[in-house]
Amino acid sequence: MGTKKWAWLATRRLQVALLLFNSNRFSYLRNSTFSAHLVIASLTPAQQKREFIPTDAMLPLGARCYNTDMAIERVIDTSLHEDDSEERAVEYSLRPTNFNEYIGQRRLKTNLKLAIEAARKRNDVMDHVLLYGPPGLGKTTMAGVIAHEMGANFRATSAPSIEKAGDLASILTNLADGDILFIDEIHRLRRAVEEILYSAMEDYKLDIVIGKGPAARSVKLDLPRFTLIGATTQAGNLAGPLRDRFGHSYRLEYYANDDIQQIIERSANILNTKIKPEAAKLLAERSRLTPRIANRLLKRVRDYADVNGDGIIDTPTAKNALDMLEIDDLGLDPADRNMLTLMYEKYGDKPVGLNTIAALTGDEASTIEDYLEPFLVQMGMIQRTPRGRVVTDIAKRHLGL
Ligand SMILES: Nc1ncnc2c1ncn2[C@@H]1O[C@H](COP(=O)(O)OP(=O)(O)OP(=O)(O)O)[C@@H](O)[C@H]1O
Ligand SMILES: [Mg+2]
Repeated sequence: MGTKKWAWLATRRLQVALLLFNSNRFSYLRNSTFSAHLVIASLTPAQQKREFIPTDAMLPLGARCYNTDMAIERVIDTSLHEDDSEERAVEYSLRPTNFNEYIGQRRLKTNLKLAIEAARKRNDVMDHVLLYGPPGLGKTTMAGVIAHEMGANFRATSAPSIEKAGDLASILTNLADGDILFIDEIHRLRRAVEEILYSAMEDYKLDIVIGKGPAARSVKLDLPRFTLIGATTQAGNLAGPLRDRFGHSYRLEYYANDDIQQIIERSANILNTKIKPEAAKLLAERSRLTPRIANRLLKRVRDYADVNGDGIIDTPTAKNALDMLEIDDLGLDPADRNMLTLMYEKYGDKPVGLNTIAALTGDEASTIEDYLEPFLVQMGMIQRTPRGRVVTDIAKRHLGL
């Protein structure tokens, strides 16, 4: 056959295929992940393992999407700067992998140890776990620790990256017996995706409808037994039916200064940096009771010590570095002080709504709610009332307002 004729035939076939693909009858095939899932589901488990097709939704440990529109880079911003590869690499290297290395959160550890031991004794999977609380307190880290302690595979993804029901179906059918599936930012799951999760969590069944209208049919597939670990900074935004399906639900608390000091000393050790105990104590006091900030401050102060001294972090070095970063003795930075001052100057002792605060500072309301406010509430500098946020006397005294 001549090349021309062959090319024409190939084009024609492609056109027919596209026509079929676009027709309503084959509409479900347009969801490519789901079609991949259907193929996989029809294979034997051994074949499935060989044919494993990772989807975009499967991200490496701890990966997630962040709102990066923050105007100023804040050293003590609690979010993980995902686009900063050095930051990510250091965060991985400092991440505890087992209960011994995981400092603080004693109540959480006691409860989880018990649950893990019981599951292992019964040779069963652990009940689903929900971890919630402010950013940077160790939710993702704890999920990894649970997987390690269970001796299970850790499969991590985040809710915003699961776009369609088919994406989740694909992830679930590719799990192996006993796997831990970690879904970060679980409050951001789409409704259609979330509904798939209900039967998967409850009785390890995948209940999915294929097609639309009269041609629609329901398919039920058995799933391997798995443990879902969900993490969120906004437990209040989780749908009731989803929340109820978690056997364990734990709030991560802010850390005591002693625990933060221990985390700083452990991290300094891993980073091969010498830090004097008093300097570690000083850094801990300014770390907003949060491990992620403690590690970030340590790295900044280490840079300062390398450039301005002999690399050893003592109290004067730590003090100078923190002054340079404009972090005060309670851990507040210019962004916190700016927000509190603006609120007080414009509204005095009256409550201020979240959107008004956002308009005052030029931040997104969600940034204020997730990253700025929780610590200020914890420190008693802001009081949350049904009518808005009020600057407290503690804040006024601290800022000399
Ligand atoms: N208990 C702990 N002991 C030692 N280091 C910790 C502990 N908890 C957290 N860290 C350190 O803090 C960093 C941030 O923790 P992690 O990423 O688990 O927080 P997160 O709660 O998942 O935050 P986000 O809500 O932003 O996802 C980790 O890389 C780890 O190095
Ligand atoms: Mg996390």
